[in-house]
Amino acid sequence: MELFCHTPAGGYGIAVERGAIGKAAQLADLDRKVLVVTDTGVPPAYSDAVLSQCPDGHRFVMAEGEKHKSVTTWEAILKEMLQLGLTRKDAVVAVGGGVVGDIAGFAAATYMRGIDFINIPTTLLSQVDSSVGGKTGINCGGVKNSVGAFHYPVRVIIDPDCLSTLDGRLVSEGLAEAIKMAATSDAALFEKIEKSRNLAEDLEDIIASALRIKINVVEHDPGEKGLRKVLNFGHTIGHAIEAAALDEYFHGECVAMGMPCMASPEAAGRIIGVLEKYNLPTRIPFAPETLMPYILHDKKMASGKVTVVYVDKIGSFEFRQAGPEELKCYMDNNLEK
Ligand SMILES: NC(=O)c1ccc[n+]([C@@H]2O[C@H](COP(=O)([O-])OP(=O)(O)OC[C@H]3O[C@@H](n4cnc5c(N)ncnc54)[C@H](O)[C@@H]3O)[C@@H](O)[C@H]2O)c1
Repeated sequence: MELFCHTPAGGYGIAVERGAIGKAAQLADLDRKVLVVTDTGVPPAYSDAVLSQCPDGHRFVMAEGEKHKSVTTWEAILKEMLQLGLTRKDAVVAVGGGVVGDIAGFAAATYMRGIDFINIPTTLLSQVDSSVGGKTGINCGGVKNSVGAFHYPVRVIIDPDCLSTLDGRLVSEGLAEAIKMAATSDAALFEKIEKSRNLAEDLEDIIASALRIKINVVEHDPGEKGLRKVLNFGHTIGHAIEAAALDEYFHGECVAMGMPCMASPEAAGRIIGVLEKYNLPTRIPFAPETLMPYILHDKKMASGKVTVVYVDKIGSFEFRQAGPEELKCYMDNNLEK
């Protein structure tokens, strides 16, 4: 399946196809000097597959984990690019999850004021979400994604077969993002995820449908000024849970717990049902009083209100303004009993 994301400068194609990594050279221009960036947690078979198709390919393996999405790793990648003599005509290829995609994209954005970036995401989260939209970056000074740039890939290659090696909890986390997009924007996709009997077989369709939603959003709001906020469904409370629980939950799991709060009883019932089906947590494990300070510290609360995304009916959404009282009511709806 071939998708396309328009950007002010033109756009980029996104191939979604089982086995796509094995024909990466047909799908993207690898006939130049290429630095493949991957991490220690990504099975080497994936970067091997890409490198075997590059006449002048080189590999940079960073340590896995969010804490390595750092200035130090970014500098090491840039030094490797200089050492190899990459020119403005060459390319960086990310083979890995969102961590690799974000930092490799940022290295491509900043090397010689920007060179080509090809993204081959290998986690479900990166396939349905972070590979599209052009956000690249690193963590700095203890603040996540505080340094970055918008730098669109020239090509995205998504091979759902790469997910066969992914830990089940990470597959569920990625599904939470797809469920999030379906709940606000695509009732048919929501139903497909709800009713899927063989997830591995349905993943190609699910990924492509989720990407269509993300593409539509980023095409209409590339600079994240309005519509892109719909992607924050479940995030206001999700972020607070993430901050309060430290490393206990993955990001997607926190979003999962945040979603039912922001939905009508009928929509919340379906959201909880589908989250449970994929072993995702559904109920808020903290009292609203514990979470409120984290929400209030969020810069978006400067005016006393925050914009939240509310789902009344699956497949549609509205933006609402909520102050502390309203937020408490939303949370009360979905507390762990
Ligand atoms: N740029 C964006 O728009 C955007 C959007 C959402 C999230 N993000 C970023 O994405 C990052 C999270 O991404 P993630 O969830 O993919 O985490 P990740 O990149 O850390 O990957 C999770 C783990 O899976 C391993 N892995 C990757 N592919 C694998 C495979 N096919 N088989 C087995 N193991 C594999 C990795 O080595 C890692 O240990 C965060 O840094 C977040 O800020 C960016």
